[in-house]
Amino acid sequence: MVRLFRGLLSQGRFSKRARRMGFGRESAESILDTVKPSNGAGFTAEPYSEKTPYRQWIESDGIPIHIGYHIPDVRALPLAPWARLGVNGAHVVMEGAEGTDGAYVCEIPVGGRTKPQRYLFEEVLYVLDGEGETTIWHDRTNKHSFRWSKGALFSPPLNVWREHANRGDAPAKLVAVTDLPVVMDLFHNASFIFDNDFVFTDRYGSEQDFSVCGPDRVREKGRAPGVTGEGRGKVYECSMIPDARALPLFAAEARGRRNRTSEIQLAENSLQCHVSEFPVGVYKRAHRHGPGSHVLVIGGRGYSLLWTDTPRFSESANQTRVDWGDGSLFVPPDRWFHQHFNGGESPARYMAVTWIGGKYFVEALGGGGRTHRLGTKSVHHGGNMIDYPDEDPLIREIFEQELKKSGVKMDMA
Ligand SMILES: [Fe+2]
Repeated sequence: MVRLFRGLLSQGRFSKRARRMGFGRESAESILDTVKPSNGAGFTAEPYSEKTPYRQWIESDGIPIHIGYHIPDVRALPLAPWARLGVNGAHVVMEGAEGTDGAYVCEIPVGGRTKPQRYLFEEVLYVLDGEGETTIWHDRTNKHSFRWSKGALFSPPLNVWREHANRGDAPAKLVAVTDLPVVMDLFHNASFIFDNDFVFTDRYGSEQDFSVCGPDRVREKGRAPGVTGEGRGKVYECSMIPDARALPLFAAEARGRRNRTSEIQLAENSLQCHVSEFPVGVYKRAHRHGPGSHVLVIGGRGYSLLWTDTPRFSESANQTRVDWGDGSLFVPPDRWFHQHFNGGESPARYMAVTWIGGKYFVEALGGGGRTHRLGTKSVHHGGNMIDYPDEDPLIREIFEQELKKSGVKMDMA
């Protein structure tokens, strides 16, 4: 690849050489599309810039970049043709992520598929609409395919080739949360990230390693380093959840009344997921943690309150309200208290991709460090959670007013 950029190797000879190495024509072309000079180029970041290498990279990617604290409906985001993937897409930069992770949306037309890609960053994909099939491989003589439809949650293992095909009769739309911001900011070199031969045999070796979640995949979550006395949650350890909207959850009252949660350890990732659901007439406890928790609502409707500095909501200089429904995406900013309220007539369920850790903890990004640590321990005992009896009375007043609008009875007794 280096010789290609220096003009010592033609693209044709590079393709032939890549095919001899077992990549196949499309894979070789994909590498070229991703890192060739006209497309951001053996991309190396401009030094002394006010823009991070990741921001420079996505700006070179030729698709819309949607920036904000909250997106009401990721399904409605404008997309544009994305040469690298061969389908329409957009990047999503949630300010609350603060560069610890990022997101994109892509739409595969009927009969279409993405160009093969592989890369040195983790990604978790959620199917917003449609149905399709993903094929993954290290060695193209040993490919593995699996089907998905709306509600599926999956993660192709790190640095495997991946190709997504639409197998339905309507466009298929996916949203992905990735840790490319961290990887790109550290290495600022697209060739290293998108054209790296390293095989993570500890993450994926064969078809058997790509497992679908079921009761046999439940594990006990690890405890964050330095945290004692908190209950351990249950973790699904797998690579694919057929429908996160229907995933059986476990009681997790520490985060809220009648709250149910499943943590999800996908594909040996460091980036972690969980799904939470809370019933009609109920709100969760407020808590706070570090940046990067992409919260995607996958059922119900309601709102979240976010504020800074003090456990007393009404005394905070910064109060924000996010109204949400199916398809809403937001990231609570670093150390902001946040609290989720079910304002609708059906259970509210969200999926979150976070640095909460579980099987592997990344101290700098949170799981083992400040992020999420002590998220279920009261602020009065050195933790980051506000228990119901300690909360600002205004919290419940707002909730009562909200429920009156929809005629729903509060269930917080
Ligand atoms: Fe949170």
